[in-house]
Amino acid sequence: MDVVNLRLALRAAASHLCRAIATVPARLAPLPMNRRHFVVSATAGVATLNASTPRVAERLVGWAPGSSAVAIADDEDFWFQVQQAFTVDRNNINLNNGSVAPSPRSVQRAQVDYLTMTNMSPSYYVDEMLYPGFEVVRRRLATRFGCDPEEIAITRNTTEALEAVQFGLALERGDEILTTTQDYPSMVTTWRQRERRDGVVLRFISFPSPPPSVDDLVSRVERAITPRTKVIHVSHVYYTTGQVFPVRRICQMARAKGIEVVVDGGHSFAQFPFTRDELDCDYFGTSLHKWLSAPVGTGFLYVRKAKIPRVWSLFASPPEMADNIRKFEGIGTFPVHIRNPITEAVDFWEAIGPERKAARLRLLRRRWVNAVRDLPRVKILTPDDDAQSCALGAMSLDGVTGPQLTDWLMAKHRVHVRPREVPNEFSAIRVTPNVYTTLEEVDVFARAIVHAATRGIA
Ligand SMILES: Cc1ncc(COP(=O)(O)O)c(C=O)c1O
Repeated sequence: MDVVNLRLALRAAASHLCRAIATVPARLAPLPMNRRHFVVSATAGVATLNASTPRVAERLVGWAPGSSAVAIADDEDFWFQVQQAFTVDRNNINLNNGSVAPSPRSVQRAQVDYLTMTNMSPSYYVDEMLYPGFEVVRRRLATRFGCDPEEIAITRNTTEALEAVQFGLALERGDEILTTTQDYPSMVTTWRQRERRDGVVLRFISFPSPPPSVDDLVSRVERAITPRTKVIHVSHVYYTTGQVFPVRRICQMARAKGIEVVVDGGHSFAQFPFTRDELDCDYFGTSLHKWLSAPVGTGFLYVRKAKIPRVWSLFASPPEMADNIRKFEGIGTFPVHIRNPITEAVDFWEAIGPERKAARLRLLRRRWVNAVRDLPRVKILTPDDDAQSCALGAMSLDGVTGPQLTDWLMAKHRVHVRPREVPNEFSAIRVTPNVYTTLEEVDVFARAIVHAATRGIA
């Protein structure tokens, strides 16, 4: 048996093991993140923190036992291991990990292996091996999100997850949906379509960037509620500036008034650790190709168990599935091989450690922010405290638009960022490092901003 076939055979065997394990979830109930957990996870059919990333995950898990996440945040030996697990092009400095993030080698390899399997016998291998693996994926995501697996639907992205809820909630003509001027455009477009079709009314609040306080954010939402408000739609992390919103307080305040809250978690899951109970939300959608570094085209929808029957699925489902979360997964034939490697992506995240990852991301953001904050014409739009920010940071440069600064950074410095503009509010750039970003890459960006602020971009 050659190496490829051996690996495929192992994966097939592992996949069968997954199914066996999936039937006894108690054995894999949340364990503390330690070496044992990693070994158990790896046995559960993942197999590929492997050949090209030899023992990387194992080394990370066992690193500096007893050290705090903050202590490891500037341990460059640790982060060197993480950087080497990726295949990114270091001739470009990618500081836009917000739109979509690269996968580490282990995830890329798993994706290729599952594609190879698919092509060996598409219907048999997919139905018998790859589909059953979804239940392991569902359980791993649920464990991390702190909910029941029966509350997680695997989707292609945040858009699919949230539109299921946005189109699926029963609303009447004149009912109001309250959102913000910084919510994601596709989600706003979805509500706009419901306005045209169903006669609901979309209303907006704005908030300053950075806001004066968390209380201010909550009170802006609360003050805008009317007797007709039926839904509040907010982002957990704003795609514009990285502002972390007080979702828990919004959900609790709205629940007391009988209002549904749709949480856009496109940018939050796996950026920093949190659970469903910490958000106390009923509906949450995310993309796993962002902060989990899972294959492009993966996401999940969480719906609280009691609410599932109240939401129509986006694609038709039979009445027997009314209370089954899988009703949100019926999308016809699709590239199944991209979903099983979500398990490898969770492994990689756990190997780094969710707390360590968040601490490192904050360190990277603060490194460039502190280098440019006091420059003339620079305004930092992202608050500094841990409760309100993590990896993403946004800045504006007076007299230069976000798109102009973005183009100049790429043309002159090979630095890729994203322009972020909110009409009548700001024109800025959003800067998003990831775990593979080096300190030097952040410093190159910061020096470019020093140049732009003091000598212009002509
Ligand atoms: C806050 C937010 N919501 C939703 C989305 C849509 O994500 P996707 O295109 O993966 O569905 C994005 C994408 O960047 C986002 O930032």
